[in-house]
Amino acid sequence: MNQSIAVVGGGSIGIAWSIVFARAKRPVMLYEPDDARRELAEDDVMRRLRALAAHHLLDEGPEDVAARVELVGELSVAARGVSYVQECAPEDLDVKRSLFRELEALAAPDAVLASSSSAIPPSSIAQAVRDPSRILVAHPGNPPYLLPVVELVPSPFTDTRTLERAHTLLASVGMCPVRVHKEVEGFVFNRLQGAVLREAYCLVRDGVVDPRDVDTVMREGLGRRWAFLGPFETVELNTEGGVDAHATRMGPAYARMGAERGQHDPWTEAMVAQVSSAVQSRFPRDRWRDHVLWRDSALMALEAFRRRTSLLSGPAAAEQANNYPTNSAQGDDTREGGEQ
Ligand SMILES: NC(=O)c1ccc[n+]([C@@H]2O[C@H](COP(=O)([O-])OP(=O)(O)OC[C@H]3O[C@@H](n4cnc5c(N)ncnc54)[C@H](O)[C@@H]3O)[C@@H](O)[C@H]2O)c1
Repeated sequence: MNQSIAVVGGGSIGIAWSIVFARAKRPVMLYEPDDARRELAEDDVMRRLRALAAHHLLDEGPEDVAARVELVGELSVAARGVSYVQECAPEDLDVKRSLFRELEALAAPDAVLASSSSAIPPSSIAQAVRDPSRILVAHPGNPPYLLPVVELVPSPFTDTRTLERAHTLLASVGMCPVRVHKEVEGFVFNRLQGAVLREAYCLVRDGVVDPRDVDTVMREGLGRRWAFLGPFETVELNTEGGVDAHATRMGPAYARMGAERGQHDPWTEAMVAQVSSAVQSRFPRDRWRDHVLWRDSALMALEAFRRRTSLLSGPAAAEQANNYPTNSAQGDDTREGGEQ
């Protein structure tokens, strides 16, 4: 099968996606219509690759990876006959619609046409094209070469083969694709982030805590576990009896907290059973004690790493240790690299 890839739009996300594909040894055609930005993009690709190399995160030289990214100023040159398109143009529905109309004519007949959109539902884009079955959103974190999760969001018209192809290709370049079953505003990444942010703002508004201490609670508490466990996995390992015991013991308190915010979404028995069974596929409960020991060892490894590198203690500490990655320094020498 034809494996060629086009990235459309050479801004922040387009450059980052190009690095993801090129790092996985896939040649990339990167289309950027603006001449000045195209020139900047070339430097930006190199700067980011050098920073990755300084952290020992490339398995070949940055020049070798960069050589796989070809910057072009014509969409027809970038996308003709390709089998996968990752669109990264500005977040504007009209721009995306007109691009996808061109892309469906240019790309191979069975090509996957994926948008990086953070908020535009794929069905809004799909309405503009003749064959909507090849279109989906593949929404990355920023930058995708450091945050591997990518949300695959189909419209009601997306063919399951499109989803499967996107999933297979993105997994093959080191990403962790997650299937979102239907279009919802914010998809999953931003809805989870939004739930935390909404509560954080309420707590500050109500005088419960200072904003800086919201960040302290997250950075020095929840976030440390969330570096290697999801929220369901966290409660599974926090409570003997796992998710089920946690829901029985803590469910009513969480329901009261939700009610304070006008929310009524009880954790029904069926929902808890579904979550419990999913979590136990990674953490079988008969080994619960072993898994708690694993979690604590992972926290120790994280703490040991934090102590070794001043970068993680914040910009002031990094600056004091002469470890601050400036734009110019990042290119050739992040200094932090030597510490790892
Ligand atoms: N920045 C983020 O954190 C982030 C995260 C996830 C998803 N996204 C999504 O990725 C997409 C791109 O975001 P960004 O932050 O890279 O934006 P950006 O403004 O940095 O880059 C957009 C690029 O597209 C180019 N462009 C303009 N018109 C174009 C056209 N018709 N065809 C092709 N390219 C065109 C611009 O010249 C620019 O270089 C958006 O849909 C955004 O929602 C962004």
